[in-house]
Amino acid sequence: EQAQKGGFDHFMLKEIYEQPEAFSKTVVPHVKDGLPNFERDEIPEDFFENRRHIQIVACGTAMYAGTVGKNLIERFARIPVSVDVASEYRYNNPIVGPGDLVIVISQSGETADTLAALRLAKQKGADTLGVINVIGSSIAREADHVIYTHAGPEIAVASTKAFTVQMAVMFLLALELGLKNGMIQPDECRSLTDQLLDCRNTMEQALELTKTVPDIVEKAIDCPSLFYIGRGLDHALALEGSLKLKELSYLHSEAYAAGELKHGPISLITDGMPVIALATQQVVLPKTVSNMKEVKARGAKTLLICRESETVDADAYDFRIDLPEAADEFMPFTAAIAMQLIAYYKAVQSGCDVDKPRNLAKSVTVE
Ligand code: G6P
Repeated sequence: EQAQKGGFDHFMLKEIYEQPEAFSKTVVPHVKDGLPNFERDEIPEDFFENRRHIQIVACGTAMYAGTVGKNLIERFARIPVSVDVASEYRYNNPIVGPGDLVIVISQSGETADTLAALRLAKQKGADTLGVINVIGSSIAREADHVIYTHAGPEIAVASTKAFTVQMAVMFLLALELGLKNGMIQPDECRSLTDQLLDCRNTMEQALELTKTVPDIVEKAIDCPSLFYIGRGLDHALALEGSLKLKELSYLHSEAYAAGELKHGPISLITDGMPVIALATQQVVLPKTVSNMKEVKARGAKTLLICRESETVDADAYDFRIDLPEAADEFMPFTAAIAMQLIAYYKAVQSGCDVDKPRNLAKSVTVE
């Protein structure tokens, strides 16, 4: 097992480091002449045309990749997208039928609830697309079409590299739907795919955070309960960051849309409670910073995650993690790495079983 870990202390850390490569393996073959291309997946050209409604269904981390996907598809293609937890979708008599596109996302391709949701969507006449990591898995076999992510095998129970490549596929799908829907032009799309391909480099740079994050985590997260906050894409990422902390370090962690704090959760802020704020989205950054000041005024200890070039009032944060420069829509790829490292080092420092957290399974094949 030590050999399989390739010199890393844990599979999780190894898999965190494998992300830039997994990202390239997934994205490069899906870009042709600067545009998204799904020929290798044998998806017919017209599959993405005339879509008026899209549903994304998944569980756990895959569902949060879907939440990022919703933001990107709505941003680039202006098509309304709903995201459902598969275990809810299958029992909620979903409003779906012919002409609708249902995208199921799953690393293993074997999650029982996701498979059941796929079967239901098919039975109701929807067109289905799987975004799957394991070749030949049940969901891959049953979906009308499949786009494979190329994360390679993920051994650690908590998902890392599968998540970033799922987001990458959602990005490509958002661009493809945007082109087909006439919402983005090929030139604009080429510039976006260039920037997407460059995320391999920003992800490599973000791995340098392994030098600073352990110390920050030790000082900033020393409380059994904490909040993650963010807006827009940062909210979707906060949900995933919070899940990672729960899974690995058994801390009570909640993720909130930063603007919702004042509608309840702020009453839970007590002296020294950590609040991790993701603020990578420029338009809403001042709003999130003002939420940080609100919680800090009530005693919270704040950790800001933002671009390295960002000027933020020093009185808004106690600790700060800087991410490499990229346009807003590309920030999730490096923000994910920062959050994975926070959860990883917290779990290591607390003596938790990082690769096999208690009560969790890599693939949940029972309901
Ligand atoms: C389990 C795993 C999670 C994963 C979820 C969905 O709960 O512990 O890490 O996100 O299943 O798995 P899937 O294979 O469908 O992506």
